[in-house]
Amino acid sequence: MLDQETIRDIRKDFPALNNTRNGMPPIYFDNACTTLTPEPVIKSMDEYYMDFPGCGGRRSRHWFADETYMRIEGKPEKEIKGSRSIFKEFINAGNESEIIFTQNATHGINIVALGFNFRSGDIVLLTDLEHNSNLLPWQRLRRKSLIQLKFTESDENGCFELDKYKSMLEQDKVRLVSMAYTFNLTGYTIPAKEIIRLAHQHGARVLLDAAQTAPYQSIDVQDLDVDFLVFSVHKMCGPRGVGILYGKRELLGSNSSEEEAEDVIEPALLGGGSVGDSTYDSYYLLDPPERFETGIQNYPGQIAAGEAVKYIQRIGLNHIYTYVNSLNQFLTDELLHHFGHTGWFTLFGPKDPSMRGGILAFDIKRPNAPGIAEDLSERSNIMIRDGGFCVHSFINKQFGEGWMLPSPPSEHRMIYRISLYFYNTIEECEIFLEELTNVFRERCYI
Ligand code: ALA
Repeated sequence: MLDQETIRDIRKDFPALNNTRNGMPPIYFDNACTTLTPEPVIKSMDEYYMDFPGCGGRRSRHWFADETYMRIEGKPEKEIKGSRSIFKEFINAGNESEIIFTQNATHGINIVALGFNFRSGDIVLLTDLEHNSNLLPWQRLRRKSLIQLKFTESDENGCFELDKYKSMLEQDKVRLVSMAYTFNLTGYTIPAKEIIRLAHQHGARVLLDAAQTAPYQSIDVQDLDVDFLVFSVHKMCGPRGVGILYGKRELLGSNSSEEEAEDVIEPALLGGGSVGDSTYDSYYLLDPPERFETGIQNYPGQIAAGEAVKYIQRIGLNHIYTYVNSLNQFLTDELLHHFGHTGWFTLFGPKDPSMRGGILAFDIKRPNAPGIAEDLSERSNIMIRDGGFCVHSFINKQFGEGWMLPSPPSEHRMIYRISLYFYNTIEECEIFLEELTNVFRERCYI
């Protein structure tokens, strides 16, 4: 467990935590959206621009390019690890060629959706709690009549129902299961290993969106036996605009067509960097990962992404989860104790915080319910997120479309989300509770 002294030291690494407003330091509780960036990660990006701003991918033969290449691909003979190898180890992939740099999790999902060899009528199975990034790419394919979409229904606590899922797999021939590993609205983590085992038993492939899992829990893609997995590095202290798509080697294609598996994905984008040779009539693609990384890449981001992994590994993912969850436990207990009985305050997802990692979302149904996030930010430098969290589909089903601007205003409601990370403290939680109570009081809720 991380102690207060360690947290105090860690906080010194995050320059944004010094950015006071009206004399108050920021209390940053919007980590599920994006995390703060520590100095070693910022320094690593700066270093690229200041010292060796070359292109990667072995395009050029000069030392700026060599240095860029080495920071990403490493130099095994000198035991220098590059970012790709750091990510390979981070998720225990079998091979570096299975690690594809993307812009973010959304980009990775789109690569799979656009590149998967669907046959007309194939069924893609999602949960009812997917973020837009794991919904819209599939809806587009459905609009083109390429796939059918089905959804598993969560139980009343937002938990996954394995039995119902099993019956769906038995009833329908599902081609691909695509699910958030951890839901961004509730913080609940699905039983992925069993979901994957059942999907494979029924001949379906599985894509996991681990955007909200990777920052808090260790992931072992070989143990999970997952086919594809995506996440965003900016949610784990990394730079914006860098993500990872993991794919099993045999599903990423190769130059030798003999190795081609049925469900191999084709790159959605083609161009320089992905190609071995071309004529006016033809081209051949490089092997993965290059075939999926076309065009000049975000090299400083990819290099700094490796630093972000090293940074959170120094703290330890198991420590991060336990610590963050203990703060969630404290906040959940306090909020439920003070407001749980009111009838206008409802938690999303499981009541038990140990099932919600670092996420705590609640719904306020009161006149004038919107605006609390702005109030907290302006008055107290406390940052939380409100709105629909890109899970419009689920919230519209729960509350009815147009729920954010209902008439009459007495029916106002708003969802607020606190999402914690390891640099948050118990003192911050106490200040948040006090300030939230003041806002409720001013609004005559209590
Ligand atoms: N999915 C991100 C969030 O939940 C953007 O805030």
